[in-house]
Amino acid sequence: MSHKLKVLDIDRDGEISITQQLVTHIASLIDAAELAPGERLPATRALAADAGINHLTAVRVYRRLAELGYVTAAVGRGTFVRQRVPLPVDGAGTPGTASSGRDDDDWQLGMLAVRSASYADEMLRDSLHAPLAGDAIALGSGYPDPQLCPSEELGALAAAIGRENPRAITDYLQVEGQPQLRERLAELGRDAGYATSADEILVTTGARQAIDLVARAILGPGDVAVVESPTFAGALASLQATGARVLPLPIDADGPDVDALERILARHEIKLVVLQEACQNPTGADLSAARRAQLVELARTRGFFVLDDGVYATLRFDGPPRRRLRADAPAHVIYVDSLSKTIGGGLRVGWIAASGPIFGRLVQLKIDSDIHTAALPQYLAAHYLRGDRHEQLLAHALPVYRRRRDALLDALDRHFARDATWNVPTGGHHVWVTLREPVDERALYVEAVRAGATFLPGGAVMAEKATRTSMRLSFGLVEPQLLEEGVRRLAVALREVRRRGRPGSTGALS
Ligand SMILES: Cc1ncc(COP(=O)(O)O)c(C=O)c1O
Repeated sequence: MSHKLKVLDIDRDGEISITQQLVTHIASLIDAAELAPGERLPATRALAADAGINHLTAVRVYRRLAELGYVTAAVGRGTFVRQRVPLPVDGAGTPGTASSGRDDDDWQLGMLAVRSASYADEMLRDSLHAPLAGDAIALGSGYPDPQLCPSEELGALAAAIGRENPRAITDYLQVEGQPQLRERLAELGRDAGYATSADEILVTTGARQAIDLVARAILGPGDVAVVESPTFAGALASLQATGARVLPLPIDADGPDVDALERILARHEIKLVVLQEACQNPTGADLSAARRAQLVELARTRGFFVLDDGVYATLRFDGPPRRRLRADAPAHVIYVDSLSKTIGGGLRVGWIAASGPIFGRLVQLKIDSDIHTAALPQYLAAHYLRGDRHEQLLAHALPVYRRRRDALLDALDRHFARDATWNVPTGGHHVWVTLREPVDERALYVEAVRAGATFLPGGAVMAEKATRTSMRLSFGLVEPQLLEEGVRRLAVALREVRRRGRPGSTGALS
């Protein structure tokens, strides 16, 4: 065993469990950098022999350390000190740990199936947590700016709804959603091209649940799905959770490469293709007219579903509005969307537009999942969407986001011109930056956090192992001056990683 672990005197009769003593000991060595990131820990059997404990206790020690974010286990290779800096964790056990910090919950680790967080899981969790932690410039999070969300108006509406119809707060609703909301979404859907009637609308708990229900309704082990890559990490997670094989579709300035899809179709029977037709997260790309026609033709002739995620399509600041893909092939395209990027993610109001037998399957899965989306947010959304308030909100927010995009692009020009290339998004919240020379992606992330800025590492949003180093930088939440400072910090981090001279590997895990 590493001599660094030997120093421990285990108190075998004390009140603190042996597992906890070892966890605390090893964690403190990692915190003190006596065990360095990437360092391999002794095998569990060696730990057990040296510490005079049984093997199961050693396994629990490493599992607990993994849950706390200190180590990662690679099957067949061993347990390693994690590369990233663990996020500060508050006593309530917010993201980063499931532990209450009590001594007596160790037994749970022996009962739970091993599910170590994937690299993508970790990075997504960080990106959700970072803006709330407030200690770094959060370029990794696709949140809208709360200042642009109509919080006070919704607060007043909630009070009015509570006064006029208190049972809106407590009564169960129809599974498919609150009727006026479905009607209004269908009306908006007729303009945008994603729906023709309220019967096609299923209200969901955010677009995240919508994607999950669609994946589960269509896919199972042995099936094959295709997803544009890079993509939204949540879509990858939902697809992978079905047990289906998930194949990547490269994406360029014209959107996902439909010729590549044809080549995949020559070898595989595809059930589902997942993409964002406009303002794609993270590349900002729109699908070109030629590729769109080719995709629709393929879906019809080869018989597969297309899931079009439109959460960013409404946030378009360049070019005329586009009709949603579902307008071209309503029986093949399933559309998902939400109010999260415009009105507010905390509402958790999303929806699916679909028709045919798939709709009934989705409703059944919705019942199995949570019966229906919470009633009050649905009433709120229905009231808010009446009239043209949403259009007014967009008219105010879009120029703000456009200015932030421009500020981020300017900052990239200043700090990354020699080191990277990037896209110019026509909408959405993200710029996809790819380094000309790869570096270790995890090392870059750790260094960026140290320098005081976060980003979403490219490897976390790709369906395949990344061969290049990319960063998704998000501008929705950050003021222009801070965007400049955030990008400057990233450049400092990159210089530091290069200085340490570890080029050649992206460090990304697929
Ligand atoms: C492309 C994309 N789809 C779906 C979602 C999930 O949206 P919601 O917050 O409505 O669940 C996100 C969230 O960031 C996203 O970026």
